[in-house]
Amino acid sequence: MQNEPEVVVLRLGHRPGRDNRMTTHVGLTARALGADRVVIAGEASNPKGTIEDITGRFGGPFEVELTDSHRQLLRDWDGAVVHLTMYGLPIQDVEGDIREDHREDHLLVVVGAEKVPFDVYERADYNVGVTNQPHSEVAGLAVFLDRLFEGRELDREWEDADRQVVPKETGKQVEPVDEE
Ligand SMILES: C[S@@+](CC[C@H](N)C(=O)[O-])C[C@H]1O[C@@H](n2cnc3c(N)ncnc32)[C@H](O)[C@@H]1O
Repeated sequence: MQNEPEVVVLRLGHRPGRDNRMTTHVGLTARALGADRVVIAGEASNPKGTIEDITGRFGGPFEVELTDSHRQLLRDWDGAVVHLTMYGLPIQDVEGDIREDHREDHLLVVVGAEKVPFDVYERADYNVGVTNQPHSEVAGLAVFLDRLFEGRELDREWEDADRQVVPKETGKQVEPVDEE
């Protein structure tokens, strides 16, 4: 989030077409819950366009990048690497250490789609399970980010939005944001 070391989400294993919706949701969840950037490994121009469109309308800052070399990103990453996996250590046991690392350093959060190569498990500083049950990268990412930021991301201010939702007990209201 703003004024803190960066949190970047790396989406691995995107299969064009088949994973478009899930990859889009990984990006939208990263954006909504306080990450600064998503990097998608593979041909993902459709999800990239959708996430950028939402950022343009509802605000940022949030960046979307594609890479064909996730290994280089992992190798060169300057900070801690967290890999979300059902086989990892329980989040409740490691979240404090990860928060401590993130006070000083950027954080790369890796989520998979299909089978994640074993070198990612070896490269990660933390292999983290959000429960040790199989579920979804979107759910795992959401719980992880909320634990990382301890709920502060829910009060985030958005910049350069051209519209905003007015929270309602019932019904839907969206209004334009005045430009100053
Ligand atoms: C549908 S799962 C497929 C996992 C695949 N079977 C594997 O061995 O990596 C896709 C992604 O969801 C995330 N995920 C699924 N269950 C999780 C859990 N319990 N904790 C954390 N992340 C999880 C992981 O990032 C995983 O790579």
